[in-house]
Amino acid sequence: MSSTKIQLRWQPLPRVPARNHRMINSVVFGVPIKSHHRVSDVLSRTSGPSFGSVTSVSVRTNARPFLRGDGNGRFGRFGGKFVPETLMSRLRDLEEELDFVLSDHEFQAELTTALRDYVGRETPLYLAGRLTEHYRNKSRTTGDGPEIYLKREDLGHSGSHKMNNALAQAMIARRLGCSRVVAATGAGQHGVATAAACAKLCLECTVFMGTTDIEKQSSNVLSMKLLGAQVSSLEGTFQDASSEAIRNWIENLETTYYLSGTVVGPHPSPVMVREFQSVIGKETRRQAKRLWGGKPDVLVACVGSGSNALGLFNEFVGDEDVRLVGVKAAGLGLDSGKHSATLAVGDVGVLEYPGVGPEKSFLKETGRVEFYTATDKEAIQACMLLSRLEGIIPALEASHALAFLDKLVPILHDGAKVIVNCNGRGDKDIDTLIQRGMPSSLSRVTKMSHYT
Ligand SMILES: Cc1ncc(COP(=O)(O)O)c(C=O)c1O
Repeated sequence: MSSTKIQLRWQPLPRVPARNHRMINSVVFGVPIKSHHRVSDVLSRTSGPSFGSVTSVSVRTNARPFLRGDGNGRFGRFGGKFVPETLMSRLRDLEEELDFVLSDHEFQAELTTALRDYVGRETPLYLAGRLTEHYRNKSRTTGDGPEIYLKREDLGHSGSHKMNNALAQAMIARRLGCSRVVAATGAGQHGVATAAACAKLCLECTVFMGTTDIEKQSSNVLSMKLLGAQVSSLEGTFQDASSEAIRNWIENLETTYYLSGTVVGPHPSPVMVREFQSVIGKETRRQAKRLWGGKPDVLVACVGSGSNALGLFNEFVGDEDVRLVGVKAAGLGLDSGKHSATLAVGDVGVLEYPGVGPEKSFLKETGRVEFYTATDKEAIQACMLLSRLEGIIPALEASHALAFLDKLVPILHDGAKVIVNCNGRGDKDIDTLIQRGMPSSLSRVTKMSHYT
C-alpha cells in the first residue's frame, strides 16, 4: 500500500523562511526622500482592511476597480503616494483619466479591439498533456494526478504579458496630450512592448536600460530600436534605469508620459497596471468554465514586481476556494544574498525602486496569496523540462512558477486543475540558457550539426 499518496488539497507547503520577514512598499520616484516621507510614516498606516474585507470588497466583476484598497491606492499599511509636489498634479490628472477610461465605452471598445487584433487575445489556456503525464509518472500514483494548464501569455504580441499594459497606458498617454513616452526596462520585455505600442500610436519613445541588462538582453535592445525607440543606456541595472527614466519624466512633464511596467510606484500606477493586466484572469475564468465547467484549484505565477501574478489572480481574489501561489526568484539561494526574493527577506520602505508593489505585499500579509521561492537552478531545469516535453521555451521568469510544480503537484488531489501563468517566451533568455543550462546531450547535437 502506498503511504506516499497524498490527497490533501490544502496540505500546507513549506513557507519561504520567515526570517527577517519584511516587505517592500511603494516608491519615491528617483527623488530624495523628504522627512515627511519617512518609512515610519508608511509603517504607521495600519488602518487598512483585514483579510475578511478583501474578500467582501473584491466583488469580482463590474465593481469599480478602485474599490479594492482604500480608493487612494493604500492596501492596509502599504501603498499611497510619496512623491514631490511637482508630480502630485500629474498623478491626479492620471487618476482622473484612469477613472474615466475604465468605464468609458469608447476607450474600452478601442482597447478590446486592439487586444484582440493587435495583441492576439484571448491567449489560449493550454492543457500541458506531457507535463501532466510527467508529474503523474513521477509521483507513481495509480490515480490520474492533477492536470496542468498553461495560460499562454507568451503567445501575445511581443512575447509577454507586458503588452496588455503598455498598449493601454500608451492610449492614456495619447489622451493626456503627451507626444512622448519614457520607460525603464530590465529584461527588456516591457521596453519592447512599450516601443511597439508607441510605434502603433505614433508616440516618441525613449527606453532607459542599464548596461548590465543591455548586455544580457541584446535581442530585445535590437527589437526596441527596430520599433523606433531610442534606447538610452546608463551604468547599472534596472533600478538605475528606473530612476533615470523618472528623472527624465520630471524634467519633461509637459510633453512626456512615464509608462510604468508593473504594479509599483505611487497611486494610481499599481491599480492601473493591475486593471490592465486583469484581462489575464478574466479570460482564465471563462476558459476554465468552458473547458471543465468549473474554476481552477490553484493558480501559480512568478512574481517579479507582481503584474503578471496580479493580472491572473485579481479575478479570483474573492474566490476563497481558488488557491493563489506566487513564486519569487531565490537566485543562487536565499542565503547567498544574490536573489530578488523581496517577499521572503525584503524590507518595508519608501524606495526609489521597490521590489514588490503594495497590493502584493498586502495579499501576502493577509495570507490570501501564498509565496514561495525557486532558485536559478530550479528555474533553468523547469525551463528545459517544458521545452523538451511541450515544445514551449518559457521565459526564465515564468520558469520560476513552473519550477514550483515539483513541490506543488505531489500534494494535490487527482484531477486538481492547476494553471501556471506562462507569461513570456524564452527567446530573450537563450544565451543565458546556453551558458548556464544547456544539457550536455544537447551540446553534442549542436556540435555534430555544426559539422554537417
Ligand atoms: C517575461 C516576464 N515575466 C515577468 C516579469 C516580472 O514582472 P511582473 O512581476 O511585473 O510580471 C518580467 C519583467 O520584465 C518579464 O519580462
